[in-house]
Amino acid sequence: MISDNSFQSNQHVIINSLKNFLSEQNTKGLLIPIGGLVLVSILSYGLYTFLNLKQQNELLIQNLKIAQSSLLEQRGQNINLSEKVAEAQNIVNEYGNKVGEIASTVGNLQKLAETDKQLLEKYSKVYFLNENYIPKSLSNIATSSLYKKDKVLQIHTNIKSYLEKLMGYSFQDGQSLLVISAYRSFGTQSVLKSAYKFNYGLGANQFSAEQGYSEHQLGTAIDFTTPKVGETFSGFSKTPEYAWLTKNAYKYGFILSYPEGNGYYVYEPWHWRFVGVELATKLHNEGKYFYDLDQREIDQYLLNIFN
Ligand code: DAL
Ligand code: ZN
Repeated sequence: MISDNSFQSNQHVIINSLKNFLSEQNTKGLLIPIGGLVLVSILSYGLYTFLNLKQQNELLIQNLKIAQSSLLEQRGQNINLSEKVAEAQNIVNEYGNKVGEIASTVGNLQKLAETDKQLLEKYSKVYFLNENYIPKSLSNIATSSLYKKDKVLQIHTNIKSYLEKLMGYSFQDGQSLLVISAYRSFGTQSVLKSAYKFNYGLGANQFSAEQGYSEHQLGTAIDFTTPKVGETFSGFSKTPEYAWLTKNAYKYGFILSYPEGNGYYVYEPWHWRFVGVELATKLHNEGKYFYDLDQREIDQYLLNIFN
């Protein structure tokens, strides 16, 4: 390979020699053939240099193409790798979701297994509650909420806080609600029903459940009254307390079990049963009553009855 510098210095040497030679030979008549020879030499040399450079250039372009294609290949591999990482990430996420779903199902099943199924069963003349059934846990209702202060009335422990809220907010709203009856055992209901039968004969079936069929045995039913209405419940449906219950009781999970025209007992505006805020709200919003619903539909609310 010939560098440009050496090419130029060679040219100078050749041209200077030629100048000397030509000035010597000028007179001898050799100028023209010698000039031609020099020209041919210069052209040959130029052509040689051009070809040399062209070859180098082609080599360079070839190397560039190789580098370019290897770069493209590398980029392709990187994209593939990113796709594979994203795919793996999706699988991990999906797996995580499934594990979450299973855990929540297991949690729900466990919660359901621990929740007393009886709490949302229809009782009134429909479903017989075992003679030995007693709520898992019972708590005394605060004396301040009782119509008869010297009596002890109990309620299912899980609904105690709901009842307290109901009583508290109704009091704040200027109402005088009091509890006159709450949990009644199978035995208590039996004694009560016998007394009613004694006094009212078969008519007692219109307002009192047989033992084993009363919502009171669940510990989640309450009979309310006011100081004025007292034990007879007479006129309770006309009181502002009843109007308040109709408007607000659902917020604390309570519903009216026996509305006017129900197919089980006489109209009992004082008898309210706890079914959970979720179901009570649904019934309130849809203008329906507990006994209007299918048991299968009611059962769906058992999971969150104490939420
Ligand atoms: N008074 C209602 C029907 C009961 O005895 O459960
Ligand atoms: Zn009642």
